[in-house]
Amino acid sequence: MPQPLASSAPVVPVVRLSQAGFAYGDNAVLRGVDLTVHRGQVVAIMGSSGSGKTTLLRLIGGQLRANAGKVEVAGQDLGGLSRAALYALRRRMGMLFQFGALFTDMSVFDNVAFPLREHTDLPAALIHDLVLMKLQAVGLRGAAGLKPGELSGGMARRVALARAVALDPLLVLYDEPFAGLDPISLGITAQLIRRLNDALGAASVMVTHDVHVSLDLVDYVYFVSGGGIVAHGTPTEIRASNDPYVHQFVHAEADGPVPFHYPAPPLASLLSLPEGDVP
Ligand SMILES: Nc1ncnc2c1ncn2[C@@H]1O[C@H](COP(=O)(O)OP(=O)(O)OP(=O)(O)O)[C@@H](O)[C@H]1O
Ligand SMILES: [Mg+2]
Repeated sequence: MPQPLASSAPVVPVVRLSQAGFAYGDNAVLRGVDLTVHRGQVVAIMGSSGSGKTTLLRLIGGQLRANAGKVEVAGQDLGGLSRAALYALRRRMGMLFQFGALFTDMSVFDNVAFPLREHTDLPAALIHDLVLMKLQAVGLRGAAGLKPGELSGGMARRVALARAVALDPLLVLYDEPFAGLDPISLGITAQLIRRLNDALGAASVMVTHDVHVSLDLVDYVYFVSGGGIVAHGTPTEIRASNDPYVHQFVHAEADGPVPFHYPAPPLASLLSLPEGDVP
């Protein structure tokens, strides 16, 4: 029987969420989320604090299971996978989590070697060479023998990047990879995320608050608010957007669709001074 031409085969996205939802108990955090990430793409997820970005990343990473809709990675529906199959798929994902730390009692070398030793049967000599290549890629081969306590924050982040890509993942998930970095380290980390993604031929999903760095770096952006995707587009589309939410984010306005004030009764009703005296 003739085989279909490779070029006519449908392209399977690395990540596809279809109407995905998630609740922590009664707290419905995400509803009706549609999101697609293709091989080669770096995609940013932005949104205000508490909007559900980390939750969304954990759904993609298979640490949480959607309670509505579907989450597919490399064409596999995470909701239908056995624990073993999910574990096998998660080995093909690299993760750099919010507040994710290095093992402080291990050297830089051993930190990067950890996933290789844990998840493969590769001989020690090969692991040695792979670790040095990953450290070379992030510019820290010379720091292999140091302990995390001897690194700057920016260096530690780069070691965490090398560890996240140690197994040559098909998908890398980053939760606030730029948090706490000075502008130079931030720029280096951003370029590394792009370079590692392109060198691996992988896909990357990055939660970040840094609008301008990510608009220079990524292929596509999703904005999360009120439990759903409120806007999405290429950086060019996002920069040109008239959507008030996107505008508030891109122009760093303190008040807008995302209010400055946490919901509260009017201030005057709570003060003990007579109303006329409230400045
Ligand atoms: N383990 C948990 N159990 C219960 N509720 C949780 C849990 N983790 C998060 N939440 C709630 O889910 C909502 C979304 O949290 P999430 O951490 O996904 O937000 P986020 O967008 O990543 O915020 P930030 O920008 O501050 O990191 C919040 O209301 C939070 O209180
Ligand atoms: Mg978060």
